[in-house]
Amino acid sequence: MAVFETHSDEETQALGERLAQTLEPGALVLFTGGLGAGKTAFCRGIARGLGCTDEVSSPTFAIVNVYRGPRPFAHFDLYRASSREDLEAAGFYDYLDMGCVVAAEWSENAAELLAAETAVRVDIARTGETDRRITIEGGAL
Ligand SMILES: Nc1ncnc2c1ncn2[C@@H]1O[C@H](COP(=O)(O)OP(=O)(O)OP(=O)(O)O)[C@@H](O)[C@H]1O
Ligand SMILES: [Mg+2]
Repeated sequence: MAVFETHSDEETQALGERLAQTLEPGALVLFTGGLGAGKTAFCRGIARGLGCTDEVSSPTFAIVNVYRGPRPFAHFDLYRASSREDLEAAGFYDYLDMGCVVAAEWSENAAELLAAETAVRVDIARTGETDRRITIEGGAL
């Protein structure tokens, strides 16, 4: 387990970019943390680190955004839809099988379903206006 403190959106993105360098194809990154913690910011960094140049936005309404690039990235948001059926329909398991790096915001909403998955687990806690404590488990950072 590794714990990091960031003090800006950009620092959180930079940490995501660093994590991306360590991820294998088919890696799963599961995020927990409250509203506005910085999960999407972290994912923006992952996308950059994977070489995906499309703009990253919150997939809340689409469930998943897929960014193409040398190392494709499937970015899920389980805030509103988090059942096994929702995940299957959105291609969650297919993206993993295809070797995409897959990230899921609001993984706490599918905690039971995802408990047995091998994953890098990233928790982001807000400790101040622009301060975040980021705990990474199961990763190589
Ligand atoms: N250290 C920091 N790391 C990340 N974001 C920060 C930090 N400090 C301030 N922020 C701000 O906090 C907000 C984080 O928003 P972001 O959309 O990344 O959060 P989220 O966890 O994805 O939220 P949601 O639960 O709505 O999906 C942004 O406005 C960002 O600029
Ligand atoms: Mg978000």
